[in-house]
Amino acid sequence: MTKELDLGLDAPSEPKLTPMMEQYRSIKKTLPPATILFFRLGDFYEMFFEDANQASAILNITLTGREAGASGRIPMCGFPHHAFSGYVRLLLDKNLKVAVCDQIGDSSKTKGLMERKVTRLITPATYLDDENASRSAEYLAAVFRKNGEAALAYLELGTGEFWVRRVSEDRLLDELALIHPREVILPKSLDETPVAAFAREWLHAAVSVYEDWIFDAAEAADRLKQGFQLKSVQSLSFHDDALAVGACGAVLYYLHDHFHHALGHVRAPRILLTAACMMLDRQAQKSLELVANEQGRKGLGTLFRVLDETLTSMGTRQMEQWLLRPLVRVKEIEARQDAVKELCEKKVSAEAIGALLSGIRDMERTLSRLNSGVANARDLVNLKNFMGRIPDLRTELSRFSSALVLELNQKIQPFPALCQLIEQAIVSEPPLTVREGGIIREKYSAELDEYRYLSQNGKQWILDFQQREVERTGIKSLKVKYSQVFGYAIEISNSYLNQVPENYIRRQTLANAERFVLPELTEWDQKISGAQDKMKTLEYEIFNQIRARVLEQLLPLQEMARSVGVADALLALARVALRKNWVCPQISESDEIQIENGRHPVVESMLPMGKFVENDLKLNQKDQQLIILTGPNMAGKSTYIRQAALIVLLAQIGSFVPAKSCKVGVVDRIFTRIGASDDLARGESTFMVEMLETSRILNEATNRSLLILDEVGRGTSTFDGLSIAWAICESLASGASKPRTLFATHYHELTQLEAHFQSVKNFTMKVKDTADGILFLRKVIQGASDRSYGIHVAELAGLPPAVTARAKEILAVLESENQKATQILEGDNQVKASAPKAQPAEQHPVINELKQLDVNRLTPIQALQKLEELKNQAQKQK
Ligand SMILES: Nc1ncnc2c1ncn2[C@@H]1O[C@H](COP(=O)(O)OP(=O)(O)OP(=O)(O)O)[C@@H](O)[C@H]1O
Ligand SMILES: [Mg+2]
Repeated sequence: MTKELDLGLDAPSEPKLTPMMEQYRSIKKTLPPATILFFRLGDFYEMFFEDANQASAILNITLTGREAGASGRIPMCGFPHHAFSGYVRLLLDKNLKVAVCDQIGDSSKTKGLMERKVTRLITPATYLDDENASRSAEYLAAVFRKNGEAALAYLELGTGEFWVRRVSEDRLLDELALIHPREVILPKSLDETPVAAFAREWLHAAVSVYEDWIFDAAEAADRLKQGFQLKSVQSLSFHDDALAVGACGAVLYYLHDHFHHALGHVRAPRILLTAACMMLDRQAQKSLELVANEQGRKGLGTLFRVLDETLTSMGTRQMEQWLLRPLVRVKEIEARQDAVKELCEKKVSAEAIGALLSGIRDMERTLSRLNSGVANARDLVNLKNFMGRIPDLRTELSRFSSALVLELNQKIQPFPALCQLIEQAIVSEPPLTVREGGIIREKYSAELDEYRYLSQNGKQWILDFQQREVERTGIKSLKVKYSQVFGYAIEISNSYLNQVPENYIRRQTLANAERFVLPELTEWDQKISGAQDKMKTLEYEIFNQIRARVLEQLLPLQEMARSVGVADALLALARVALRKNWVCPQISESDEIQIENGRHPVVESMLPMGKFVENDLKLNQKDQQLIILTGPNMAGKSTYIRQAALIVLLAQIGSFVPAKSCKVGVVDRIFTRIGASDDLARGESTFMVEMLETSRILNEATNRSLLILDEVGRGTSTFDGLSIAWAICESLASGASKPRTLFATHYHELTQLEAHFQSVKNFTMKVKDTADGILFLRKVIQGASDRSYGIHVAELAGLPPAVTARAKEILAVLESENQKATQILEGDNQVKASAPKAQPAEQHPVINELKQLDVNRLTPIQALQKLEELKNQAQKQK
């Protein structure tokens, strides 16, 4: 760790504290920055000093104080230990880490200061305890960058998926946005760069900074080799890639640094190549509101929300991954489509599968919990219940013939032996704790049953034994007594010693009695004493044995859980398709996009049934490559062009689409440049960002890309904006690559481009003028709109009538001036920079002076004097 947090503890000369607070202070010093220390005191977890101030506010618990020696009363707050998980979550949500410091040893036997030790260090992306945690993936990512290239390693501890990607430096933020990690590990050299700012401010991730050497390839390779028990690093396909190895190594370092040693469920990292999926930069992710929007992640209004009819957490994660990485290979898309189609057709089986999937717990997380040792017996029961459904699930899946479903059926294997083992061993509703007994069924272990019997019936056995011995010996006063030192023994008073049987073994002599034992009694004594403790220990042992048996099958179990997620996501696509009446698009390698009666999947879902107005779209490279869409404000332009992007994207994840029919020639990238929004994290001006992004689009778009441009140019003055928009259109229509483009704009002048390029076509939003104003029909028709209606919308919005009336006057003047400028552009569409620069006329000094005059402050005499002065001046300068 590179930074020390100010804990309020490191005053130049540290005041002497009580021994316990000294212990606290020394433990606290070993922790990484931004870590709250939970300090176990009896049945409570307490926090002190600055931690207490901070945590009491976040956790909404009372801040109290405690005498701590020389520094007097210090802040303190705390909560009962069983309330742990709820409080941890709240702190993690604030990007804090939590260190748990427990008491070591037995409090009843320790005199003086208890020994204490940090037993866990929990960070936002590594908390697995909470069974009901969010269903989405929480990634821990590490970024490493050198010479314009970067590597991004990311691990989901919950499922054990570990990936690494290589990206060019300028793609780095896009990739980070796609992964949306919960935590980011950066080398010191990247702290205080835009990468760090982006992680903190845009992703709201918790950022940990390490020295650069942690990312050093040689050390990192060693770490990977050890961590994954590889024979050699060569077995990683990316072993010769120093950046990728370094980034993965940093993730492992972080885990070790944070006490995560049980890595068995984490798969060795795999490198992910971008070519197999459509690239969506963060601008596109954001403006198309795929997974996140202003309402937050997976909020209302995101495409994800519309699609997410998954029934399990595994399915939810799968769906999110698909959505952010659409496919580009026709065959792969068709394979998903086939599966979805079949699931739509075989409704009964599909429903049966749905019934089997619903209510399944997050198995990937359960397996991780079992592996990392935080699991309890309920996890085993959940696993068993899950496995119990597999045979039926397989039966249903076997009714399908599409290749993908067949493949899934291969991977979804039942584990009858494990299932049976858990069924036989674990009670159906075990407690949350694993060390307090009550987990293992009767008859599973003879030894355990005996302990149980003993702890419940041990006393009775002693009474029975005593009774038997009284009868056998005829000594009425014979008693079985217990002593701390000798345990159970038969006590016989001195007067009956002559009747003691021969097999009695003498143990102890008292004042007027003797004590004896029998092998039988000794044996029982040993059994009874501590039977309870032994029972608990044994139960825990058995639990661990079963856990180990499960972990032997970890990889196939993970594979199975993942496959169930895929089945669930496919089923969700089918359910959405059926419920919303979507159609299966036809995918090809052509340049054609053709949508008949298309609808915007999200806007449609927010309107009452049937209220959404359907629209067609045709795009191809030859005669309809660039569509200029004009129309009044609020007419539906933005909705229409986004709708096109979303339909294409849905088609390429293998989903059905909201349309009557649809053909999609595969798109390699969707670019969007929508509106003018500030990109604060990068600290650049709005217009600068707009132009940066537009230039990137122009440089990177290929013949197979789809461009969604909404009011590009709007961020600057009208003439600059229009000229830029005009030039962009020219370049798109005549440049080296001709991406299919939808351009919504308020610059009506752009409609003149249609006359110059065969591939440019004008479309407009149909409106109807009525007595009460204009009516939006939301219908896209060929042609150009004649005026903008912006002022009309302003009226609708309630701008004062005086303002709108004045606006109309100004508009008239501007329009006549505008005419002249467009004539220039029209005259020669190659002329790019010759728009006239309207210089304001030099102001006459008299006018300037008049402007500065404050009439209210002049007396009538002064006013007359000034008037004369000005008149003279004007005459002089004429
Ligand atoms: N096809 C449609 N059917 C029904 N309602 C629609 C349709 N398209 C758009 N709308 C509604 O109209 C509203 C405005 O649409 P949109 O934002 O697309 O207009 P716009 O033309 O881009 O306006 P501006 O020029 O101000 O950006 C949307 O919020 C939506 O509710
Ligand atoms: Mg718009």
